[in-house]
Amino acid sequence: MKLFIENLPKAELHLHIEGSFEPSLMFKIAERNKIEIPFNSIEEIEKAYNFNCLQDFLDIYYQSANVLIKEQDFYDLTYSYLEKCAAQNVRHTEIMFDPQTHTKRGVSFKTVIDGITKACEAAEENIGVTSLLIMSYLRHLSEEDAFKTLKESIPFKNKITAVGLDSSEQGNPPSKFKNVFEASVNEGYIPVAHAGEEGPAAYVWEAIDILGIKRIDHGNNCLQDESLIKEIVKRDMALTICPLSNTSLHVVDDLKNHPLKKMLDLGLKATINSDDPAYFGGQVNRNYIEIQKALNLSKSDLYLLAQNSFKYSLLNEDKKQQYL
Ligand code: ADE
Ligand code: ZN
Repeated sequence: MKLFIENLPKAELHLHIEGSFEPSLMFKIAERNKIEIPFNSIEEIEKAYNFNCLQDFLDIYYQSANVLIKEQDFYDLTYSYLEKCAAQNVRHTEIMFDPQTHTKRGVSFKTVIDGITKACEAAEENIGVTSLLIMSYLRHLSEEDAFKTLKESIPFKNKITAVGLDSSEQGNPPSKFKNVFEASVNEGYIPVAHAGEEGPAAYVWEAIDILGIKRIDHGNNCLQDESLIKEIVKRDMALTICPLSNTSLHVVDDLKNHPLKKMLDLGLKATINSDDPAYFGGQVNRNYIEIQKALNLSKSDLYLLAQNSFKYSLLNEDKKQQYL
């Protein structure tokens, strides 16, 4: 099965580039930028990656991003992730980035996007991995702040395919971002959002009905509402499921109890992704391998999940056909 998974061509649809920041690269970049980090070794960092909930993780994730200052830092971060894609037979990836995590610290939008896009272009040329970008608004900040980010993105619009919504879900419903999503769609961005990770099914409804999202990031809690399940199936919307993220953040207590198989049985279009692989113990192939073992998934389940990853990508139909 491991070999089958490793050989399976696949796409990754839920990946935060800041969450791909491996401790070894973090030390290297901290050193060259002369920035102190509160850890003495890679082992110390890995020990700190023990989370009780989403917020626990986010606190450390934003702190780690502080060492990213220069275009080269964003380039190295992104290229390093794309090399891992190539090694795992991930042919296409849809990368989320959080501009506000960086612009809040005085790093310009241009520095962030130039570093990321140059790495994406080089990786497509050198190692054949295609990618597109999802600019994610931080939901713990105001809608006004998201509007500022939207405005900053306009000169780089041709490099960005979609907008997303991430960070602390509870208490920050999708409806808080109604206007900025509407404006983002008017600029040509495709809307997606994290919903139903820690938040209730009602937040998934809002993300669909109010933000008009085309794909649901996580979406686990849609299972609490039968009419919502029916609606998602009817609309043929995919869920980007992240098994190791779910256990690391205690969204699911044990992989053996993960609802992935149930989702497939209900007709929901699930995909497998790593979310923040440097923090949750595995890249995308490890997610496939562990969930296969835990739920005893068949080869045809795995094939369906990989097919879904291409089918529900945000690529235009022509490009999508090259992978299907
Ligand atoms: N930002 C990075 N990873 C996230 C997750 N799993 N949920 C919400 N925001 C995030
Ligand atoms: Zn995520």
